[in-house]
Amino acid sequence: MVDLLITNAAQILTCARPGVAPPYGGNAQAHLGITEGGVAMDEGRIVEIGPDALKLQAEKTIDAKGGIVMPGFVDCHTHAVFVGSRADEFEERAKGVSYAEIARRGGGIAASMKMLREASDEQLEAAVKRNLDKFLALGTTTIEAKSGYGLSLDDELRSLHALGVQHDVEVVRTCLAAHTVPPEHADNRVEYVRIVCEEILPAVVREGAAEYCDVFLEKGVFSFAEAQQVLVAGKEAGLRGRVHADQFSHCGGARLACRVGAITADHLEFCTREDALAMKKDGVIAVLLPAANYVLDQEQRPPARAMITLGCPVALATDYNPGSSPTQSMWLVLNMACVRFGMSIAETIVAATINAACAAGVQKKVGSLQVGKQADVIVCEPSDYRDLAYYFGTSPVRAVVKRGRQVNG
Ligand code: NIG
Ligand code: FE
Repeated sequence: MVDLLITNAAQILTCARPGVAPPYGGNAQAHLGITEGGVAMDEGRIVEIGPDALKLQAEKTIDAKGGIVMPGFVDCHTHAVFVGSRADEFEERAKGVSYAEIARRGGGIAASMKMLREASDEQLEAAVKRNLDKFLALGTTTIEAKSGYGLSLDDELRSLHALGVQHDVEVVRTCLAAHTVPPEHADNRVEYVRIVCEEILPAVVREGAAEYCDVFLEKGVFSFAEAQQVLVAGKEAGLRGRVHADQFSHCGGARLACRVGAITADHLEFCTREDALAMKKDGVIAVLLPAANYVLDQEQRPPARAMITLGCPVALATDYNPGSSPTQSMWLVLNMACVRFGMSIAETIVAATINAACAAGVQKKVGSLQVGKQADVIVCEPSDYRDLAYYFGTSPVRAVVKRGRQVNG
């Protein structure tokens, strides 16, 4: 007798290649490992997949009604700790004012920083919880989440602690104190970089508040040398790097990720073929963020096709944040990655599950349906996986199972 059995699945997308370690690039990026039948779970883990699962007796059953069963999404790049809205800026941008101009006027990251600093610990935690509830309802069962709107020792730690709230959605935490130079250090950026390296990152490690550190390497934000300083300090403190890389210009972000042994380079609109080859060689995963590319209406697109052809594994994420990507929907991301980045539907699904799990460092536990792995599983309405990216603006989720327990639907 097992705890839970999902029956009647037309397609089970395992997103697994038994015997081949992820992440998957090249042709393997399109391998969904489709089977049919059922998925049996016991004590929070998957115990059987496919037609044989249907032979097992179960305490509880979910009827997939001829739909799709697949791993819960891993959203491997979010800024899920912020308060308040920046709809005012969205309205300005719709009138033609640029993201950069809004930042120069004191909006952008600085506006979110102001709101976050004014919020109490309880308000921060409540905001995170609301976000996690919505992620779960949309079928996202694990996220990577960055601080980065605190920009002081105290407010960065408060942000990371808020992300540690008890919830069904598991959160992999990243310190992005180097998101921008806060206004109080505008005249002395060297001092802010010193504070990040010598005070914030070591304190984050001491308090066990994050596993990764990140930096926004961009013209007018942090230079290559400053970003390197931050990532090296993070590494010395015990935090592996991630990089906001080559989003608005070719600043060497992907190369820096290679140089410091970062787990990912993210955004990558201005990444070159040579950069993609270097990332493949050094095992840096490319995290692409089509919703931010869309909201910013960027003409420049990351070279997703070249990356995949060259064998550089691609992961996808929402980049959920109050400025450039106010969406939590991985469904929307799948559609946009097909339309704007030329990825195939199957490639987007691998990118949002097992490759994303690798990008968050949790691939041993989640991201694919395999016997022995944690039972983070979603049931969707369509019976053909292509419908998952084809329809957009709605969610196909019928049921969400986290650690073998139905939590929604
Ligand atoms: O990932 N690129 C930098 N940071 C965020 C946007 C932050 C904001 O506008 O609040 C991003 O897109
Ligand atoms: Fe981001």
